[in-house]
Amino acid sequence: MMKYDVITFGSATYDIFMSSRKFETVEDEKFITKKGLCVSLGSKMHVEDVFSSMGGCGTNSACSFSEQGLKTAYFGAVGKDIFGEAIKKELKRHGVSLNLLKESAKHPTAFSVVLSLPGAERSILEKYGACHQVTEKDIPFDPSTKLRADWFYVSSLSAGSHQILVPLLEFAAKEGIKVSANPAGSLKSEENTKILKTVLDKIDILILNQEECSLLTGIDFNEEKKIFKKLDEMVKGIAVMTKGPAGAVVSDGKKLYSAGIPESGLVDRTGAGDAFGAAFTAGYMETGDIVHAIQLGTANATAVLQEMGAANGLLKKGDWGPWSKVEVVTKSI
Ligand SMILES: Nc1ncnc2c1ncn2[C@@H]1O[C@H](COP(=O)(O)OP(=O)(O)OP(=O)(O)O)[C@@H](O)[C@H]1O
Ligand SMILES: [Mg+2]
Repeated sequence: MMKYDVITFGSATYDIFMSSRKFETVEDEKFITKKGLCVSLGSKMHVEDVFSSMGGCGTNSACSFSEQGLKTAYFGAVGKDIFGEAIKKELKRHGVSLNLLKESAKHPTAFSVVLSLPGAERSILEKYGACHQVTEKDIPFDPSTKLRADWFYVSSLSAGSHQILVPLLEFAAKEGIKVSANPAGSLKSEENTKILKTVLDKIDILILNQEECSLLTGIDFNEEKKIFKKLDEMVKGIAVMTKGPAGAVVSDGKKLYSAGIPESGLVDRTGAGDAFGAAFTAGYMETGDIVHAIQLGTANATAVLQEMGAANGLLKKGDWGPWSKVEVVTKSI
């Protein structure tokens, strides 16, 4: 029977990027960010650049693990459509097993359209799909089946799929499967945040960005020390806070490990969080060394930032790219 090094969970989407300098930004209180990205109503506008690629945190992270030389499967769903075919092809190209992938006859593949104004910002239009509809019933929990792994990487579970979080982590705890989680989707609602809190004692590595750490702990994100104190109480294992271009901080309950980023260019920032989280976990799985894990996560995120698309540019095992490894500073708590 097949046992994987890691099985990833989360979304499988297809992303279409459209970029144009002709998009206008309009300031208006009715937009959440107080700014809108606009085109004129009733007109046709040519966009300069279009690019498409696989996205989705579950599939992105699976590709990172596989490229790091780990035997990897993605659990989730795509539809029976061209986007689903494209995702399967991309997973295969990165060596990810399709044995746990469901092809839904009922729901189309999830997709996103990313509209960007070069040099400014981007807006994302997101359509939920097959991966957001998976439920507990879709998971082959019977231990004689295919769900065997040393680690689960549980990424963002949005919409209906959030329902699998608790059964998944209970199964992992029962079977002695280690868990790394990047549950950003849970923090989008208070109800799901509450649910996440009930399983933090089953998580070996919790990875969240600053804003998500603040939402989970209820502490302002500038109060880093306080946040980690709370996270250390709440989480069984280590806690990782990513800070975008300001790098990352990790706590193992005894020490804080901090790192910045190497000097590099930036082409497209989609997928940086997934690339960091998966490679951090892969580095930790292999060595148990937090310094090494931060360096590998940072290097993989930097590599992905240099190419369009969330799973393009990923580092292969042993390759660190042209950037120097980031310095990691440790401090006792
Ligand atoms: N603009 C950037 N420049 C350099 N490195 C970056 C940048 N953005 C992210 N990174 C790297 O990627 C890591 C994770 O990024 P970030 O904290 O933005 O995660 P996130 O908010 O979860 O991202 P995502 O939107 O992809 O989910 C950072 O710790 C850093 O190493
Ligand atoms: Mg993220």
